[in-house]
Amino acid sequence: MTSHERWAEVDRYVSDLFGLSSPTLAKTLRRSREQGLPEIEISYPQGQFLYLLSKAAGARRILEIGTLGGFSTIFLARALPEDGLLYALELDAKHAAVARENIATAGLDTVVRILEGEADTSLAMMITEAWDPFDLVFIDADKTGYPSYLEAVLQLSRPGTVIVADNVVRSGAVLDPDSNDGDVRGVREFNALLAADPRVRGTILQTVGTKGHDGFAIAVVAE
Ligand code: SAH
Ligand code: DHB
Ligand code: MG
Repeated sequence: MTSHERWAEVDRYVSDLFGLSSPTLAKTLRRSREQGLPEIEISYPQGQFLYLLSKAAGARRILEIGTLGGFSTIFLARALPEDGLLYALELDAKHAAVARENIATAGLDTVVRILEGEADTSLAMMITEAWDPFDLVFIDADKTGYPSYLEAVLQLSRPGTVIVADNVVRSGAVLDPDSNDGDVRGVREFNALLAADPRVRGTILQTVGTKGHDGFAIAVVAE
């Protein structure tokens, strides 16, 4: 068994043990594959981790940047109270349409609003219109955009806001300061900004599993 196969087996073990899969989530993945969306969702255990973080934070307003078919969105939105809200930013019209279907299937369309278009544009609108701060933010769109998403998210936060970002390790590619890969450069800049910004305390947790070796950045906005 390769390391990757073993990591994937352990993800299945965890998902089975904690009952993380459901007909709704399985249908979400099936529909996303049928519609040709790339297989780049977070894993079931990572989804449950986001759910737990949102619950622990008592989140009522969640922001997600990069929604794809809504798999991570469903985990996050399930943590919301009935009058909670999740704004999901998605550039690709087809991804947004599939996400809307999946979110409706999950019965979460009353708490999820998908904003189609460039995340930078939606974030600028929220800042200009002085939207209420978010309690939890999940960043998972194009990696080149991460540095600018961080600055915008900080302007849409309050002390205690939890910020999570996916894919900040990329099998260790993030160690290379001379990388020519734009995604790696974006993530390296994001990590450095997060680490140096006095407005937040953060860390990075490496992850292994069905999605290979990667990592979540996690931060809390300072008091
Ligand atoms: N969070 C999802 C996976 C997101 S994949 C999950 O775990 O289930 C990344 C998504 O970001 C894709 O759907 C892609 O279309 C979207 N994206 C890429 N660039 C973007 C941009 N500039 N603004 C908004 N969304 C973007
Ligand atoms: C990939 C994985 C992700 O989680 C993501 O958000 C974007 C791309 C990938 O493996 O290519
Ligand atoms: Mg990701």
